Amino acid sequence: MATPRFHLPVVRPRRLRATPAMRRLVAETSVRPQQLVLPVFVREGALEPTAISSMPGVVQHTRESLKSAVVEAAELGLGGVMLFGVPAAKDAEGSGALDPDGILNRAIADVRGEIGDDLVVMADLCLDEFTSHGHCGVLDARGRVDNDATLSIYADMARCLAEAGAHTVAPSGMMDGQVAVVRSALDIAGHSDVSILAYSAKYASAFFGPFREAVNSSLEGDRKTYQQDPANAREGVREALIDVEEGADMVMVKPALAYLDVLRDIREAVDVPIAAYQVSGEYAMIAAAAQNGWIDREAALLESLTSIRRAGADVILTYAAAEIAPLLG
Ligand code: PBG
Repeated sequence: MATPRFHLPVVRPRRLRATPAMRRLVAETSVRPQQLVLPVFVREGALEPTAISSMPGVVQHTRESLKSAVVEAAELGLGGVMLFGVPAAKDAEGSGALDPDGILNRAIADVRGEIGDDLVVMADLCLDEFTSHGHCGVLDARGRVDNDATLSIYADMARCLAEAGAHTVAPSGMMDGQVAVVRSALDIAGHSDVSILAYSAKYASAFFGPFREAVNSSLEGDRKTYQQDPANAREGVREALIDVEEGADMVMVKPALAYLDVLRDIREAVDVPIAAYQVSGEYAMIAAAAQNGWIDREAALLESLTSIRRAGADVILTYAAAEIAPLLG
């Protein structure tokens, strides 16, 4: 017998990949419907749901179509919904956010009326959907976003959202001190049971592009004086620690896929649940490539959601939540 030229491998990781059952048995990470939150847009005065061209498959809802969407979300076993309002009129102060009859507050009440406590009803707490200049806060005389004047509006907005019935408010404007202000405003108004999901590590990202169409917003300038520099990971951890200290019940990293390192770092630094937001541009890239036949839509969505979980997210906000939930075994 010829002398073998080398010893065959003893250690063979492929044994654990041999069959679907074996792969299922040893899978380290899973994505469950209850971990997914569906972001939804509702447009004031809309008579029909309106397609958002840069986000194929996503619409601006009417108040009626939103109700059916949340009933479906509950039937699918999703964890929650995140509501964004698109007001008919915008002004420099974003006053629609504080109007109890404004679209966001009305929609929250509609949704709670429909599904009660079967889903966690979350509301984006930010002014950019409501301001004519598209910034997340109000501007000072020199046109800069005024941190502390904005905080006082966030305090009022938090109370409005809670009164409308939000289980969770999600301050997303990246103003310093926003979580502490929202917590105390809620508590003073008797809403100590309303939780805060803080958009803690939120980056000044090109991946928010399609969201502008989704909320009919035209931004003047950029958000770089309040959202974070994509170059910074330690700063993301610092923001999350500050938010936990100020009373955040959950923290968020946003966008998700380009910031998985930040997600992992924050996972190691805090004990509260962490959410990650697969944002409009991340969704749009997959949707557009799939429409061109360049990528398998479902497989790409599942792989990206699995990666976000693997990096340490407990909760994922994704526009594909309702589509993906039935595929999760
Ligand atoms: C702020 C907010 C934004 C998004 C969620 N909340 C826009 C921004 O900060 O520029 C973006 C979500 C997405 O792109 O899917 N209200």
